[in-house]
Amino acid sequence: MNLTRQFFILLISLITLLLLAFRFDNYHLPAKMIIPVRNNPLPTGYNNLFAGSGNCAVCHNSMTNGQGAPIGIANDWRSTMMGNSAKDPLWQAKVSHEGLVNPSHQEALENVCTTCHAPVGNINAHYAQKDYYTIAEMKNDPLALDGVQCTVCHQITPESSGNFSGTFSIGTNKIIWGPFSNPFINPMLFNTGYTPVHSNHINNSELCASCHTLLTDPVDLNGVATGEKFVEQAIYHEWKNSVFPTENKSCQSCHVPRINDSVKISTVPPWLQPRLPFGMHQFAGANIFMGKIFKENIVQLGITALTSNFDSTISRSSNMLTRQALSLSVEETGRTNDTLYLNVLLTNKAGHKFPSGFPSRRAFIELIARTNTGDTIFHSGRSDDHHNLIAENTDFEPHFNTINSEDEVQIYEMVMGDVEGNVTTVLERAYQTLKDNRIPPEGFTTAHPSYDTTKIEGLAATDPDFNKQNGIEGCGSDKISYHVPLNNYFEEIEIVVNVFYQTVNDKWLDNMFSYTSDDINRFKNMYENSDRAPVLVQSVSTMINAGFDAVLRKGWNSLSCFILPENAQIDSVLQFIINSMEIMIGDSGTIYPAASIHTIDFFDPFQGYSIKMTSPAVLSFRGSSLSNISKTYETGWHLLPVLSSCEMPINSLNQNFIDKINIIVELAGWRVYWPEKQIATLTHLSPGKAYLLNLKDTATIIFSNCY
Ligand code: HEC
Ligand code: HEC
Ligand code: HEC
Ligand code: HEC
Ligand code: HEC
Repeated sequence: MNLTRQFFILLISLITLLLLAFRFDNYHLPAKMIIPVRNNPLPTGYNNLFAGSGNCAVCHNSMTNGQGAPIGIANDWRSTMMGNSAKDPLWQAKVSHEGLVNPSHQEALENVCTTCHAPVGNINAHYAQKDYYTIAEMKNDPLALDGVQCTVCHQITPESSGNFSGTFSIGTNKIIWGPFSNPFINPMLFNTGYTPVHSNHINNSELCASCHTLLTDPVDLNGVATGEKFVEQAIYHEWKNSVFPTENKSCQSCHVPRINDSVKISTVPPWLQPRLPFGMHQFAGANIFMGKIFKENIVQLGITALTSNFDSTISRSSNMLTRQALSLSVEETGRTNDTLYLNVLLTNKAGHKFPSGFPSRRAFIELIARTNTGDTIFHSGRSDDHHNLIAENTDFEPHFNTINSEDEVQIYEMVMGDVEGNVTTVLERAYQTLKDNRIPPEGFTTAHPSYDTTKIEGLAATDPDFNKQNGIEGCGSDKISYHVPLNNYFEEIEIVVNVFYQTVNDKWLDNMFSYTSDDINRFKNMYENSDRAPVLVQSVSTMINAGFDAVLRKGWNSLSCFILPENAQIDSVLQFIINSMEIMIGDSGTIYPAASIHTIDFFDPFQGYSIKMTSPAVLSFRGSSLSNISKTYETGWHLLPVLSSCEMPINSLNQNFIDKINIIVELAGWRVYWPEKQIATLTHLSPGKAYLLNLKDTATIIFSNCY
């Protein structure tokens, strides 16, 4: 027995000690660090195929990024939707609902639903030759309640990755696939029995396709199988039908964001070399709503994450929705006396439709037009106190290319129909898609081989501005025209456009809540106590210039305007009517093209004009409206402009002005206001016109605000 051998034994014992030390040190945090929230520990059990995430967290949870901030894999994952897919009370309620609608299928349904939401229980049961796996079994199995966890994703075989509808297969030889070549095997093998092995398929979208494309087997209203397939979710195919595969942007590139810092991916052994890049297990999507429900019901739902974990996941999801999902813009395309024309443009930035995934998801547009004093003149997409859209049709709102009234609201959603073509929210009865106007991703075309799984349905399919620009597909955007009725409002308008995202809403849950079971009641209670406010994804606002169209007939007209034009140069103001104008006369000059007289330089709203036309025309003024204007006139004759955007009753003018009036005569008209003779055929001063005024004495007229 030589020294080398003794040294070797010593070394082995040391390593073993170290391994044990780290195992306990990392898992059982020092008492002073334990935050007093009664969350459940991560499960540490094993079944034939899977290991509880607690076994993996021992070594894969203490890493930090280059700045020292924690990026623990288990901590990032445990508050995600996938980490809670089996405990999800909405999901459990929905499974119960489906079973109540078709009681004879209950067991089969529970078996299907647990395939993706509780794979650790379901796949293991089938591996043990069982026909069905039920919700009751799942609820009693902490391992199954671990959701879509480490040993699920990392054991999906390369051969089966890319299968859909939960038909992935889990390897039976305890191989954990990972992104790095030549992993250091022993510590993991000795501690868990699993061997880390490099394989590229872990980084492919096909890994996610396993569960994120779901074709169902619809039944009719008697529960009889139709023998056809229904596309319930097709995120993977949507992604396929986009620019992202060609740009090498997989699901992982957005949902498992990489950092280029060198990271030791396991705490054991201490001398492990760092690796890069590191994929953070954030899996943030759009489900802020359920994230908050989990966070508020940690004890009741037996959740393993802490409040602080949920805060992180919720803020990441919020970041996904508000920064990475959508760009939004609004522009004016015209304004007449009756109508304001706007184009709203939404462009999808996500790697699939927006919104996508489960059929209850939707996004809608709220567009509000307000006067310059803040009164609402138009409001499409208004919600009531329960966040329900007031104008939504009872069946569903069609897709719109143009929105003409407040009764219409643009909702981006997928609407399921049963065999009779009625709207249904029962997943098993979903037989056809009545509407799918969720905004396609960039690069999406109807000619793509995946189009049959990702169809646009309803009026969006024929909308020339939906995923199309000049007839070419693939812009990933929707342009909607809004025609806002103005009802003689001519001043500035504030436009606010909000796009909201809703995970689920009252209407969608209505049918489920008409049934009762423990799971439905439990969720109903949580739902009613939850924050149901939709998430504001994007918001833009813009100010619209005041606008007034003076209608000029053939012959003589009077003219004034309460708007200071953006460009008041007379040639610019008259540019579109100059060819049908003979002469324009103001206080300070004349424009008379035939005689080459041009002595007015600027349009002055404080003056009145008379103008003679050779044919009718409309003179549009755009600029800032003048309000609260007063102007002083001397004794004698004047051309009086109307510095107001609304009809001004003469007898409501300021009294000391009324007292000085001799006469007001309509120019190019018949009516007069002549107090001395008690003649008042002229009762109002109308915006756009000018009047002949004769004063007895110097006086100031005040044009008070209209609104
Ligand atoms: C005793 C510590 C330890 C435990 C417990 C442990 N691992 Fe590991 N794991 C490691 C080490 C060490 C590596 C290799 C790191 C390296 O080579 O950089 C590794 C590598 C990995 C990799 C990357 C493989 C690759 O090639 O990219 C994955 C994935 C992984 N482990 C998952 C798991 C899962 C899932 C569990 C729970 C069943 C688990 N680990 C439990 C220590 C552990
Ligand atoms: C074993 C099935 C399965 C696999 C594999 C899987 N997922 Fe999931 N995923 C789910 C289920 C189930 C949910 C929903 C859980 C719930 O809402 O209760 C989900 C939810 C998500 C969400 C949350 C959405 C939101 O709105 O918050 C994201 C993001 C996500 N998955 C991304 C991925 C990515 C990326 C991959 C591949 C790396 C992947 N998933 C692989 C089953 C799976
Ligand atoms: C270019 C980045 C990007 C890519 C690539 C991408 N996603 Fe997303 N994903 C997002 C964004 C942003 C959101 C949030 C907005 C939304 O809901 O669409 C999201 C949302 C989701 C949601 C929640 C959808 C909802 O509304 O409930 C799931 C699930 C999801 N992604 C899974 C996937 C899967 C699976 C893939 C690959 C097939 C993938 N994503 C590819 C960016 C991406
Ligand atoms: C939804 C699928 C999914 C789940 C669940 C999941 N992983 Fe991963 N994991 C991945 C993907 C994808 C990568 C590759 C990331 C990359 O290369 O950028 C990865 C990478 C890793 C790595 C290599 C280091 C890194 O992050 O890049 C380790 C270690 C690992 N996972 C361990 C775990 C453990 C431990 C759990 C459970 C707490 C877990 N994973 C849960 C999909 C998953
Ligand atoms: C092929 C895998 C798969 C199967 C099978 C499956 N789901 Fe899902 N389910 C998902 C994925 C992935 C999501 C997340 C999509 C998203 O976030 O938009 C999800 C989300 C849900 C949600 C929304 C949960 C939430 O928190 O918002 C409900 C409810 C749901 N599923 C019910 C069911 C029911 C009921 C069944 C059985 C009839 C079922 N699922 C079967 C993959 C599956």
